Amino acid sequence: MKKALGHIIGGSLTDGLTMRIAPEANLEAIKTGKFLSIVGNQYRFFSLITDLSLAVTNQDILLFPPSKQETLLMDLLKQKDMYATAVLKPMLMLGADLRPIPVKTIPSHFALVYEADKKDVALIFGDESDQSKKYFNIGCPLDMQTPVCLDLERLTERSNGIFGKTGTGKTFLTRLILAGLIKNEKAVNLIFDMHSEYGLQARKEGKEPSFVKGLKTLFNDKVVIFSLDPDSTRRRGGNPDVVITLPYQSIQVEDILSLQGELNLHATAVESAYLIVAKYKHEWLSILLSQGENLKEFSNSIGAHPESIAALYRKLKRLERLPFFINAPGAVHKNSCIDQMIEYIDNDTHIIVEFGNFTQTFVYLLIANIITRRIHKRYIEKTERFLGSQKIEDQPKKLLITIEEAHKFLNPQAARQTIFGIIAREMRKYYVSLLIVDQRPSGIDEEILSQIGTKVVAQLSDEKDIQAVLTGVSNASNLRSIVASLDSKKQVLLFGHAVTMPVVVETREYNHDFYRAMADTVTSKKIDELVQELF
Ligand SMILES: Nc1ncnc2c1ncn2[C@@H]1O[C@H](COP(=O)(O)OP(=O)(O)OP(=O)(O)O)[C@@H](O)[C@H]1O
Ligand SMILES: [Mg+2]
Repeated sequence: MKKALGHIIGGSLTDGLTMRIAPEANLEAIKTGKFLSIVGNQYRFFSLITDLSLAVTNQDILLFPPSKQETLLMDLLKQKDMYATAVLKPMLMLGADLRPIPVKTIPSHFALVYEADKKDVALIFGDESDQSKKYFNIGCPLDMQTPVCLDLERLTERSNGIFGKTGTGKTFLTRLILAGLIKNEKAVNLIFDMHSEYGLQARKEGKEPSFVKGLKTLFNDKVVIFSLDPDSTRRRGGNPDVVITLPYQSIQVEDILSLQGELNLHATAVESAYLIVAKYKHEWLSILLSQGENLKEFSNSIGAHPESIAALYRKLKRLERLPFFINAPGAVHKNSCIDQMIEYIDNDTHIIVEFGNFTQTFVYLLIANIITRRIHKRYIEKTERFLGSQKIEDQPKKLLITIEEAHKFLNPQAARQTIFGIIAREMRKYYVSLLIVDQRPSGIDEEILSQIGTKVVAQLSDEKDIQAVLTGVSNASNLRSIVASLDSKKQVLLFGHAVTMPVVVETREYNHDFYRAMADTVTSKKIDELVQELF
């Protein structure tokens, strides 16, 4: 018989219920974020601890505390006069039919509270062995050994965010989730890998430096690496599948817009770019960059302000130092790299764009914008074709685009103008959504934050950041204390579209067991194929 952890003595639906913790329970083992079940008459209420406190029935006890030797007195006081309470926020209730429903009522006085068990967790969060392959183990609730699963199908229906301070494990967690999506084939991924951490191998911090496998290493042919810096990729023992080159002719003013903040480009400079486009069309950038001495004449010839043109010229001149930009006059529709990407995506192959040593933010922004804008356009066309034909085979495959340092793409100014803002706002209308990874969520446009489907939140200490991740969340005040008390590593609060209720998990370890779990399906799939061939 399971022992109750305590019983309910008061509280409310909005502020949470108060549990008196049983005197024999080990108080220090009861932490905020713990996953508990309150057993009512008709429902079980699954709840998270949001706060803990101490109480006494008589204030005199505090003035005359028992000494260390008075153990008997201490035991007596613990039975009746001194106690601890926890605030429990019910997140979900299950009736007799075991269907999870939103919490609309509360249990009565003295309802008993238990630790949730394995069955409860599986019932609420799904089971990885489910045929649908939509559940993916992401970690275990605090102090439990039972996996909490993300519903990958729901995850890919919206844009999602992974937030937390530096070193909390965002990249490791992102790699886990991406592996799950690749393994279970729930979306095609396009990953803008700023620090080359997703493809080949990545460093694992710790006492002894070690390495973990990347997605290309785990999934071979299912993943291709597009590299801006092939030498860097090779030095790390890999071979890029495609070396990226982009003609100036493929850069549009809209791509430059994304750099406004980063390059400190004045709005008038951007406007003057449109004047160049009006005259020179796709050759606008190569023509601008080829002006040296005669910027003034050039400005006059297109009717632009010389100072704006000079500023634009100065700021964009640095593109010439980047070896992957080439001048290919007339190469308007030839954009072989991005076409190749689209082909891979059509074949359900996942793409990692490696930046190698080109880690300047403006490169990351510019490249991600150029590529994403083109691919998004293609997705709109595909979606329209599907709407026209209504044939299931024309339905586009869901595409999930991963970006790190997301606030650089989605700050209020950029979000209004750039492709990433458009994708985040239009939701999954065109089968494209974002996985944004960020340390500073308060830098992201509020409207976009509130549209994010599933949030994975690791420790954040800045009050503004905590507030930002809870934008548009109904349980915000209860969840804030949980976010504030997370461990500094490998612990996250998970809430939103892809999980039935908010829950704190210790992140699944990214290690050999995980590699094995990922490899299993590859082999079992091969066996399936073999069996099909045989019969
Ligand atoms: N799931 C995990 N499995 C194994 N190790 C982990 C896991 N999560 C985090 N770690 C450890 O924590 C370290 C930091 O994680 P990670 O690089 O993902 O942090 P981050 O939040 O992306 O930091 P930054 O914001 O600086 O990029 C890793 O090097 C690793 O040692
Ligand atoms: Mg990281």
